[in-house]
Amino acid sequence: MTKYVIHGGKPLYGAVEISGAKNAAVAILPAALLVNGVCRIENIPQISDVTLILNILQELGADVKTINRTTVEIDCSHIRNARVPDALARKIRASYYLIGALLGRFGSAEVPPPGGCDFGGRGRPIDQHIKGFTAMGADVDVNGGIIHAVARSGHLMGTTVYMDIVSVGATMNLMLAGTLAEGTTIIENAAKEPHIVDLANFLNSMGASIMGAGTDVIKIRGVSRLSGGSYSIIPDQIEAGTYMAAVTATGGELLIKNVIPKHLECIAAKIAEMGAEVEEMDDAVLVRRTGKLTRTNVKTLPYPGFPTDMQPQVAACLCLAEGTSVLTEGVWDNRYRYVDEFRRMGAQIQVDGKVAIIEGVPYLTGASVEAPDLRAGAALVIAGLAAHGTTEVSQIRFIERGYEDIVRKLSGIGADIRVVVTPDEAKSAQVG
Ligand code: EPZ
Repeated sequence: MTKYVIHGGKPLYGAVEISGAKNAAVAILPAALLVNGVCRIENIPQISDVTLILNILQELGADVKTINRTTVEIDCSHIRNARVPDALARKIRASYYLIGALLGRFGSAEVPPPGGCDFGGRGRPIDQHIKGFTAMGADVDVNGGIIHAVARSGHLMGTTVYMDIVSVGATMNLMLAGTLAEGTTIIENAAKEPHIVDLANFLNSMGASIMGAGTDVIKIRGVSRLSGGSYSIIPDQIEAGTYMAAVTATGGELLIKNVIPKHLECIAAKIAEMGAEVEEMDDAVLVRRTGKLTRTNVKTLPYPGFPTDMQPQVAACLCLAEGTSVLTEGVWDNRYRYVDEFRRMGAQIQVDGKVAIIEGVPYLTGASVEAPDLRAGAALVIAGLAAHGTTEVSQIRFIERGYEDIVRKLSGIGADIRVVVTPDEAKSAQVG
């Protein structure tokens, strides 16, 4: 088994550089399928979800060239295959973007249902994606465990789609589907996350005509073709927020570089309520925490509300804050699967449906814990960094789906964290 072993109780000091945004990259890379020419994409995070998507694109027939650590050139001009390989796609949630992109480009797509972290009581539904594709003239059904989508007239037709719920994935998928569709697609009640604006900027820089991204009505005028170009992905709001939460929990002073401070305002506001000081700079934020942490209430909401992807990390801070905090999950049905692991470390949390009541304790104690998903895994790392004693976090593959070089980055700011591979796994890794 591969674990992180953390000797906690050390404040974090120094500077950390934030990578490109995972949730933008996992949509922008499939968007290259719509482009007839070479897309140069910069500031790509080196994480396993990105590697999987690049492998899928290659298996579909794309020419993928690695230019340097954070830059790739993708040429999808010669792809003729709209069937996504099974084994790879099932490992990531974001494989659903391949449906919108392939359907937009070829008028048909065959994609295995998405995998990834599951925190809906009913799995992670994609009914709003399907509703949109259907309204645009596609037949979508699932048989043999594969989602088949076919545009009835050979290509998609623009139309107005009203989203019943605010969905990041459905909004981006319909942007992909609408880019080369005939006529205008209007998405009403669209999500407004920074990665939605980033996807629109990427597609527009390749020749698309998308207006209103970042508001709740997005208008996409279909164009006949996209040609190549160069684009740099925005910094990762959630990775930055995770380091903000880490220094809030451990104390210390951290300069978090290569960020868009505007995207961090909702996170900064909450950690300031807990007692941290946050100084905004042009493309960095400085977070300092010297005094005690105080309780606060947090409710997650779609952007510009407090991000659900920061909920477990902020919970780690609240566990150490004086007083009783109320945490309400406003996006997912079941995003508290980490609570038992926190309890092993001495946290006092009661969960009732979407609400968690956290009674702050003076300190957490190191324990062996298991990451149940990506952000909860990051939260356990934060708890371990702040705890007295040694914490071992297993199932780190979840964490590595979304955090580039987390061990190196944390070690560089004073954390005592290392990766430990037990002999058994090292042996089976060589065999398999
Ligand atoms: C994206 O997931 C992110 N993933 C998630 O981040 C993030 O938690 C989520 O947006 C919300 O911000 C990626 O970008 C790859 P949604 P997505 O559609 O698009 C319900 C992380 O840790 N819903 O906005 O799948 C759904 O059940 C990951 O980086 C439907 O009911 O989320 C949820 O309650 C985890 N029907 C809510 O909407 C649908 O068709 C929001 O989901 C779609 C969603």
